[in-house]
Amino acid sequence: MDTSGLDLLCTAVLLLDESHHIRYANGAAEELLGQSRRQLAGQPAQPWLDGCESVLKTPLQGQSWAWLIEIPVHQGGHLDDLRQARGTQAAQRETLRNLAHEVRNPLAGLRAAAQLLEMELPRDDLREYTQVIVAEADRLAGLVSRLSSSNQPASTPSVFNVHELCEHVLALIRLEFGERVRLERDYDASVPEMRADRDPLLQALLNVMRNGAQALVETPDQASPTLQLSTRILHQPMLADGQHRMGLRIAVVDNGPGVSEALRHKLFHPLVTGRAQGTGLGLSLAQEYLQGQGGLLEFDTVPGRTEFRLLLPLDVA
Ligand SMILES: Nc1ncnc2c1ncn2[C@@H]1O[C@H](COP(=O)(O)OP(=O)(O)OP(=O)(O)O)[C@@H](O)[C@H]1O
Ligand SMILES: [Mg+2]
Repeated sequence: MDTSGLDLLCTAVLLLDESHHIRYANGAAEELLGQSRRQLAGQPAQPWLDGCESVLKTPLQGQSWAWLIEIPVHQGGHLDDLRQARGTQAAQRETLRNLAHEVRNPLAGLRAAAQLLEMELPRDDLREYTQVIVAEADRLAGLVSRLSSSNQPASTPSVFNVHELCEHVLALIRLEFGERVRLERDYDASVPEMRADRDPLLQALLNVMRNGAQALVETPDQASPTLQLSTRILHQPMLADGQHRMGLRIAVVDNGPGVSEALRHKLFHPLVTGRAQGTGLGLSLAQEYLQGQGGLLEFDTVPGRTEFRLLLPLDVA
């Protein structure tokens, strides 16, 4: 087989021997895996393939190689779209933060004035109205403070075990949803301790898990509501700011109805919600927290299976 034509392909191609060691890599594979074909030659293929979402494996008959592996590569257009979407989302968040900043002071004034007015009221039954003003001002103040929350200075990165963080989030979900949602975990024991900003990561995972649990409990007649949490190491992941040597994937899968068609293309925009009580900030903040750490939040959804993936560069401690 002449391998020169393989270099013209956008798809990454590896040729393996009987023992699944790499014998050849085309140009797209070199670029995707971040190593030259000379460096790749002789290495076992599996660790490289573990982090790939979809891999096509074809047996070769009567050739010097036993297997041909194809790994679809993210197209340039897709990355451009991703960058553009990030820019738009960042601009929206900035506008909303400015708005939140402007609203904060008048809101406090409004609340204080309602309380003063309450003290002057001649009749008790009129208090109901001032109490509505105070309660609604408090609700707005909560929204304003969530809108501004991502503006806080980054805390210092610390070294921690990501599975302890996962367990912490699972405990919070169990507290809130109890027996209504079955929780399953599937951890990759080889994930090393990581160095990152722990609190924003915890908050991002909690936001995603709460959404999954809410989708399950809010669906009438949902059969065996289950939320699965898994971790995996990624080799050479392509993240928002380019390719990294190693990464971590935390995946949250629910068997609920899926994200409605109308929301899918704008799910990460702030204030986009499909729930009556939702503020539509959970995913926007989660995306912002992850991007702040060089990571990415992505999702796939079909009725019966929705997966959110938190992808992070793995800065080994
Ligand atoms: N796992 C899921 N299954 C189905 N729909 C989902 C899922 N996750 C998110 N969604 C949809 O995405 C919307 C946006 O989620 P997001 O977390 O940003 O805001 P929210 O949950 O509405 O409000 P909050 O600010 O309280 O989190 C949700 O309202 C819901 O309609
Ligand atoms: Mg939410």
